[in-house]
Amino acid sequence: MNEHTKPEFAKPMTLSERADELEEQMMNELNARIATKSTLFHLAEGKVEMDSGPALKAANPDKYFLMGADPRLPKMPDKPTLIDFMNHRFASTNHLLQSATHALKGGHSEKVILACLLHDIGVAGFIRADHGYWGAQMIEPYVDEEVSWAVRMHQALRFFPDPSVGYEYPEMYIRYFGADYKPEPYIVAEYERARNHKWYMTARLITINDIYSFDPNAKVNLDDFVDIIGRNFKQPKEGLGFDNSPSSHMWRTLMWPTRFL
Ligand SMILES: [Fe+2]
Ligand SMILES: [Fe+2]
Repeated sequence: MNEHTKPEFAKPMTLSERADELEEQMMNELNARIATKSTLFHLAEGKVEMDSGPALKAANPDKYFLMGADPRLPKMPDKPTLIDFMNHRFASTNHLLQSATHALKGGHSEKVILACLLHDIGVAGFIRADHGYWGAQMIEPYVDEEVSWAVRMHQALRFFPDPSVGYEYPEMYIRYFGADYKPEPYIVAEYERARNHKWYMTARLITINDIYSFDPNAKVNLDDFVDIIGRNFKQPKEGLGFDNSPSSHMWRTLMWPTRFL
């Protein structure tokens, strides 16, 4: 009698034991998969290189490549919402919540509050470079055009003062980029286009409500914005990433950043 035919092993498992076993099996399977780094992640280390499929497979002959969720990252639900991404993928929401809270207290419209809440999701969840453009593209299918436009344009506007509304060049930028930093010509051109646009003030209000330093005593809570998100962000019923929108792939990549393909 081998150990698997001993009576105690032959006993049928309860449903919950079966579920535990399945979950463990799934975890082992995921742990055994090879997570790959995209070229972009290597570029961030100062290297122009890519993970080679044949080399990784040769080094891990018994493993398959990861083609779904990365078990090292927080688990996402099957139909993720914006709030799921804020909770499980955005590295920090403090700055976004502080800016949105500032706009809320200032009595601004829900469009402006939402734009402030989402203005830096490029930085918080995706990539720093050109964060206004990436962030705008991610949300474009789900928000009023004015909101995504403003998120895109705040990137350029924040470098240019507008004394008529009390916006000065951020002192923090002098410390961060040096006193002689000049925005590139594409940013200057974008600023000029935005300056003459009918929605200029919406984008400008993002820069006015942008909180440049985190106040540890500020009381901010995502719950304060759930209703505004509900009314102004068209959450797809299939979940962000699965609704076949022009930016679905970006949300999927954020959810599964280490898939082989
Ligand atoms: Fe920004
Ligand atoms: Fe910001």
